[in-house]
Amino acid sequence: MAELAGQTVVLIGGSAGIGLETARRARAEGADVILTGRNPDRLRQAAAEVGAQRTAAFDANDATSLEKFFQDLPAPIDHVLVTAGGPRYGPLLDMSSAEVREAISDHAVLALEVARNAVGKMRPGGTLLFMGGTGARRVGQGLGIASAATAALPPFAAALALELAPVRVNLIAAGFVDTPLSASLLGDQLEERRNELRATLPIGRVVGPADVAALAVHIMANTALTGATYDIDGGQQFVSS
Ligand SMILES: NC(=O)c1ccc[n+]([C@@H]2O[C@H](COP(=O)([O-])OP(=O)(O)OC[C@H]3O[C@@H](n4cnc5c(N)ncnc54)[C@H](OP(=O)(O)O)[C@@H]3O)[C@@H](O)[C@H]2O)c1
Repeated sequence: MAELAGQTVVLIGGSAGIGLETARRARAEGADVILTGRNPDRLRQAAAEVGAQRTAAFDANDATSLEKFFQDLPAPIDHVLVTAGGPRYGPLLDMSSAEVREAISDHAVLALEVARNAVGKMRPGGTLLFMGGTGARRVGQGLGIASAATAALPPFAAALALELAPVRVNLIAAGFVDTPLSASLLGDQLEERRNELRATLPIGRVVGPADVAALAVHIMANTALTGATYDIDGGQQFVSS
């Protein structure tokens, strides 16, 4: 039976990578999907590909646009996945105070703004689902502020889950995922990184967006899950990669 039949999934950042792959998977499980992203052309193409019910092009970090998007959305909705917003790497001492403040807080602030605007339209039992990373499990050279920024997210999601119940709140903590974001961060070192991961990860292959999408759809469908963080990194945090 389709796991999300009759449900509506909103993807804040649904035109590429993990968000788009989750839209595909949610459609295959019977859901209607609503996609957002900044680039209207990419969004249009993604929406046509998955047969999205609705799209909106805006920057999710713009509080006014985000509020308007949710205000205009017909209720009810079931699940919201937030994949907008990327990580920040680089030496800590190269960052200004303002950059540190922003890097530490931007995922939580975006998550909170989405929660604030979405919760009144969500069916009980639906989930808000945020993206974090496994970077904080093992601090490494070059990760910079990224580990500290992701470390705040599990207790943040748990606290929000208590406040928003019976709407559920969960967090996915990914390691390297082979998406357009990873390609843009690594440039011509992408293939080398893939090979390194194939050689060192316990799963012997690179984690792809479809792996994360399968987890995301499971968290949406399984109404026992709330306040929790789900690692998906192929064992990366336990090896030297
Ligand atoms: N890939 C990894 O290895 C990895 C690992 C751990 C965690 N994550 C996290 O998972 C999330 C998704 O990553 P991904 O690799 O799937 O990224 P991606 O391939 O770059 O896709 C991101 C999607 O979100 C949209 N988006 C980005 N910023 C946005 C904004 N400010 N407002 C609205 N839409 C926005 C993008 O479209 P537009 O650019 O057109 O807006 C695109 O549709 C990110 O938060 C990332 O930090 C990724």
